[in-house]
Amino acid sequence: MERAARRVENINRKVPVAGKRVLEIGCGRGEVCFALNKTYGGDVVGVDVRSYPEWEDAPRGVTLLQTDQTAEDPQDIGKFDLIYSNSVWEHVRHPFKMLKRAFDVLKPGGHLLLSANLHRGPKASHRYRDIFFPWPHLLFDDEIVEQFYQTLNLKRTSAWVNQLSIADYFNYFNMVGFDVLHTSYSITPIDEAFVQRFSDKLDRFPRYDLERDFIHVKLRRPSNWSSGLHKFKRPAGWTPPSRRHPGAKRFWENIEASTEIIASNNGQPSPKLTATAGRNSGGANARTLRPQRTDGASSILGISDLSGIKMVAGGGIEPPTSGL
Ligand SMILES: C[S@@+](CC[C@H](N)C(=O)[O-])C[C@H]1O[C@@H](n2cnc3c(N)ncnc32)[C@H](O)[C@@H]1O
Repeated sequence: MERAARRVENINRKVPVAGKRVLEIGCGRGEVCFALNKTYGGDVVGVDVRSYPEWEDAPRGVTLLQTDQTAEDPQDIGKFDLIYSNSVWEHVRHPFKMLKRAFDVLKPGGHLLLSANLHRGPKASHRYRDIFFPWPHLLFDDEIVEQFYQTLNLKRTSAWVNQLSIADYFNYFNMVGFDVLHTSYSITPIDEAFVQRFSDKLDRFPRYDLERDFIHVKLRRPSNWSSGLHKFKRPAGWTPPSRRHPGAKRFWENIEASTEIIASNNGQPSPKLTATAGRNSGGANARTLRPQRTDGASSILGISDLSGIKMVAGGGIEPPTSGL
């Protein structure tokens, strides 16, 4: 519960909660909803595509609903002053539709606090309990990783994730019509030696993306819009809202500065994004990815084990026959 109380404090620092009607998207067991209600009172709704036994303990003022708000005709859950969502968007199968839905159920001027794991980040495979080096999902085909699990007789499956990048998120924020008020990232410093070793795969991605694990954004539904972009007529000289925020403006400048025009085969120029600069503190810190196993077993596949792994044609790896 302490973790939920901390999260709630953090939410309140970003957007004062008292007196607000709050929605949590992907509420899981509901701890944050319970803590919001306990600390600030008010009406709290949590939605999730699955239900949890803990929901039975929901106090008055907390409503927990099993509903997919990206469904064709989603359940009516009313309007909200504040929406919170943590570690959910990467699991949502239709993330753009969910953003539009969030916009629609926000009152004008309402806020969305969104934290999501980024697919090009080091930990996005969600296999960090078993694989202790960064970006396994970018380096190796799923079947190869599955082979490892089979070799080790591991039955675990990892949660499904979409592949949204930072640029995808910002494009979506723009397209839906959100103002981006604040952006921050959780960053894992890049291990240069590791990246060099697998540069054939990792050079496909900007360093900017590779080092970013989580995006944390504070979005606002503009108070002067009655609905999303589909009803919004851009006045002459209009700047997309997310470019007005200094942080986001820098983001777009980065993207734009790194856009070069190259000639395509048919002679038509086409835009190409190249790797951009970004904070790169280097060092051998990929080991910070190594989580402590909760079951006390020795590590299954650690960074040092890579020496036993042979890259094979087609982008896969061959599991070492012994030594694990
Ligand atoms: C990693 S858990 C995070 C739970 C909670 N937000 C937390 O921070 O502990 C992801 C949750 O998102 C839910 N989820 C996945 N897709 C969803 C969707 N389309 N709508 C609502 N919840 C969804 C999952 O069922 C799961 O409970």
